[in-house]
Amino acid sequence: MVLSTGHSKIRTAVFISGTGSNLKSLIKFSKTIKSPISIEFIFSNNLKAKGLNYAKLYKIKKKVLNFKNKNLSENKLLYILNINNIEMICLAGFMKILSKNFIKKFKGKILNIHPSLLPKYKGLNTHKRALKNKEKYSGCTVHLVNSRLDSGRIVLQKKVKISKNETVASLAKKILVQEHKLYPKAILKLFNL
Ligand code: GAR
Repeated sequence: MVLSTGHSKIRTAVFISGTGSNLKSLIKFSKTIKSPISIEFIFSNNLKAKGLNYAKLYKIKKKVLNFKNKNLSENKLLYILNINNIEMICLAGFMKILSKNFIKKFKGKILNIHPSLLPKYKGLNTHKRALKNKEKYSGCTVHLVNSRLDSGRIVLQKKVKISKNETVASLAKKILVQEHKLYPKAILKLFNL
């Protein structure tokens, strides 16, 4: 990635739509000495996202825009990110698809975590589809975001074995535990740390 780590940390925004367990793991990571990023902003399209509570808990700025009018919401968001000097974005359970125009403005500086071994199972219901196809393994992927859904350059993946009596819930839980480790590792890798 063509970002210079310099002396100060990369000002990063995390986008969420729900629980925010990956957000929590990223916040914890960002507070370690080795972290190249600092989390300065939390964005959600969902006012009821549980993860928004971390904004208060960790004293991080937050903003909610409902994305009903995507163009308008994205333009407002770009303005807010700009005035907060945000340099990088981590999508963490963010369930809206960003427009080409938005992605272009942060080209090569948006990361996403996806609960499958990409390029397998892009999009939604990954665990259900992996189980239906009787996969032996699934996992999670951290990748750079480009204009095609779940298709940008893969930074890091973690394989997870699917057990005999695996359910969507048990697999999701197992993979989530690995996601919390993978996202920070992928960020370190991206910055050659
Ligand atoms: C995570 O499993 C993440 O990989 C997935 O949503 C969950 C969010 O959990 N993301 C996607 O499916 C993106 N298409 P969290 O809110 O507890 O971090």
